Amino acid sequence: MEIVKTIKEIRAAVSAGRADGKRIGLVPTMGALHAGHVSLIDRAVADCDFVVVSIFVNPAQFGPNEDFDKYPRDLDADAKVCEDAGADVIFAPSAGEMYPLANCTWVDVEGITDHLCGASRAGHFRGVTTVCTKLFNIVCPDQAFFGQKDAQQAIVIKRMVADLNMPLEIVVCPTVRQEDGLALSSRNKYLTDAELKDALLISKSLKVCARAIAGGEIDSEKLIGLMKSIISGGGVDIEYLSIVDTQTLENVSKVEGQVLVAIAGRVGKTRLIDNIFVDLNK
Ligand code: PAJ
Repeated sequence: MEIVKTIKEIRAAVSAGRADGKRIGLVPTMGALHAGHVSLIDRAVADCDFVVVSIFVNPAQFGPNEDFDKYPRDLDADAKVCEDAGADVIFAPSAGEMYPLANCTWVDVEGITDHLCGASRAGHFRGVTTVCTKLFNIVCPDQAFFGQKDAQQAIVIKRMVADLNMPLEIVVCPTVRQEDGLALSSRNKYLTDAELKDALLISKSLKVCARAIAGGEIDSEKLIGLMKSIISGGGVDIEYLSIVDTQTLENVSKVEGQVLVAIAGRVGKTRLIDNIFVDLNK
């Protein structure tokens, strides 16, 4: 497996693969790779013949008071994870390589980025959609792989690809969790043992919500109340707890068809998100 740092090199590597008739897969990441990222690489290796993992802590998607500086970075450990998972090449550019000039061109998906995480993270999704557009233009993959863990991100990227006729398919893979239910996240590294225990209340409340819906409860207010009763009293400071339409991301009063139950909260100083997708059509 190769590690390349320039756009020229990754374009050459991908062109060679494409000339051999290979189907190109891209897994965009910010590194600090864990089993959640590995599940995306596994799926890419299964579906494609040449798999690029990008590792880039994208400054454009972090707000001024967010954790850009302390975000975990360990390229050697990440390279081993990618190699073991069967990736063909890592693209790990510097910020100067990705943004050689002060950026003045942005990709902005409107409306659906105002809700959920977008409500408190101004400019975050603009940074994500812009860097993903750049990565798609640099790598030209047939498919790109994203996690359901960041449900709003996956919905926003899919919408951008549809709206702008980008010639690739977005594949969304299930959330990988610890045995105790905690969704894997690079930010879990920030948590103390006591905070890890508090963080469990998030996935627990989602599980209880799923059970209540399966048992016939469809009133959003009641379901949200039930989830809050589980979380409150613990060390999670809820930022939002919402039941939303999976297309518009607007709140729904009743669970009908497909909905997303999404939570963001702070445990200590660490912001965590989690969600479940509910499909009553099935
Ligand atoms: P990052 O947080 O590194 O996540 C990279 C990909 O891994 C995302 O698609 C995310 O949803 C997925 N992922 C993270 N935890 C997961 C889990 N527990 N189970 C399944 N998938 C999981 O998301 C980003 O980076 C950035 O915003 C990026 C898209 C790379 C743009 O900079």
